[in-house]
Amino acid sequence: MAFMRKYLLPTLGLFLAYYYYSAKEEFRPEMLQGKKVIVTGASKGIGEEMAYHLARMGAHVVVTARSEESLQKVVSRCLELGAASAHYIAGSMEDMTFAEQFVAKAGKLMGGLDMLILNHITKTYMRLFNDDIHHLRKIMEVNFLSYVVLSVAALPMLKQSNGSIVVVSSQAGKIAHPLVAPYSASKFALDGFFSSIRTEYSVAKVNVSITLCILGLINTDTAMKAVSGILNMEAASKEECALEIIKGGALRQKEIYYDRSPWTNLLLENPGRKILEFLSLNYYNMDTFINN
Ligand SMILES: NC(=O)c1ccc[n+]([C@@H]2O[C@H](COP(=O)([O-])OP(=O)(O)OC[C@H]3O[C@@H](n4cnc5c(N)ncnc54)[C@H](OP(=O)(O)O)[C@@H]3O)[C@@H](O)[C@H]2O)c1
Ligand SMILES: *[C@@H]1O[C@H](CO)[C@@H](O)[C@H](O)[C@H]1NC(C)=O
Ligand SMILES: *[C@@H]1O[C@H](CO)[C@@H](O)[C@H](O)[C@H]1NC(C)=O
Repeated sequence: MAFMRKYLLPTLGLFLAYYYYSAKEEFRPEMLQGKKVIVTGASKGIGEEMAYHLARMGAHVVVTARSEESLQKVVSRCLELGAASAHYIAGSMEDMTFAEQFVAKAGKLMGGLDMLILNHITKTYMRLFNDDIHHLRKIMEVNFLSYVVLSVAALPMLKQSNGSIVVVSSQAGKIAHPLVAPYSASKFALDGFFSSIRTEYSVAKVNVSITLCILGLINTDTAMKAVSGILNMEAASKEECALEIIKGGALRQKEIYYDRSPWTNLLLENPGRKILEFLSLNYYNMDTFINN
């Protein structure tokens, strides 16, 4: 107890104070000027809005989704808005070969990569989970596995640019919601995987930031249709949400929380987890895994 009172608690206090109050750098739109950015799931919704913000900031963008027709429109609009360059590559993230080749092609089009924004998801229904293993497998592949494949393919370019991976997740990837068990599993998986490799990067001095984005309900057409008659809750703006995601990535934040209510964000942040993750690193002998 004496030890606790003397060292542990003050250390934790300092840690938390540092974590929450350390002066955060201000976002400036110029941070994205000339940057080379990939946005997946950018034919509509939040992804489309991110492409437009990036275009206004003067970034190079490559967008992807399945619908070629919609992507064409997004690219034309990006060029009107002032993108340094804008291209699309259409394909399905059910296909891991496509995912891998997509990153290579996008890198070639832009001559490198600064930010990989992973945002696409396969269609989700709100219903009780019964026995639809087929749906569960597809969700895990599109919402989770393809994110890993895309990151692996992008890592060499991101290492060169000291770049960033931005992973779009959900409150359903932090806490339990009914009716979306497969979706929730895929979003929790993103947290487990990307938070774990973030720690590895920091130990191994790989200067590629990973930003996990925890979103509340956002007013995209898809989401509004999916929750209609089921969820009585006001949605937040997709335009503002898209901007907050880009800011989080540009400022190399570990996590960003976006929701209509600031209370949700405060409650979700889970300081206990952060403390335990920080402290448990002391027990690892990581030297053997580094510089091999
Ligand atoms: N909206 C919300 O309330 C909310 C809340 C929390 C988290 N989020 C997260 O925010 C992100 C964007 O959500 P959103 O509401 O903007 O979704 P959305 O409007 O439905 O957009 C989904 C995008 O993914 C693409 N896509 C779908 N299936 C695909 C496939 N098999 N391969 C490649 N691309 C595919 C879609 O284009 P195609 O159909 O043309 O392929 C579309 O561009 C997701 O990660 C979601 O989990 C959203
Ligand atoms: C990346 O960061 C390293 C230091 O970690 C620095 O030496 C290098 O110049 C940076 N490269 C780019 C392209 O910013
Ligand atoms: C990592 O890269 C960022 C962006 O280029 C740079 O600001 C930062 O100083 C780098 N950090 C380290 C530890 O090299």
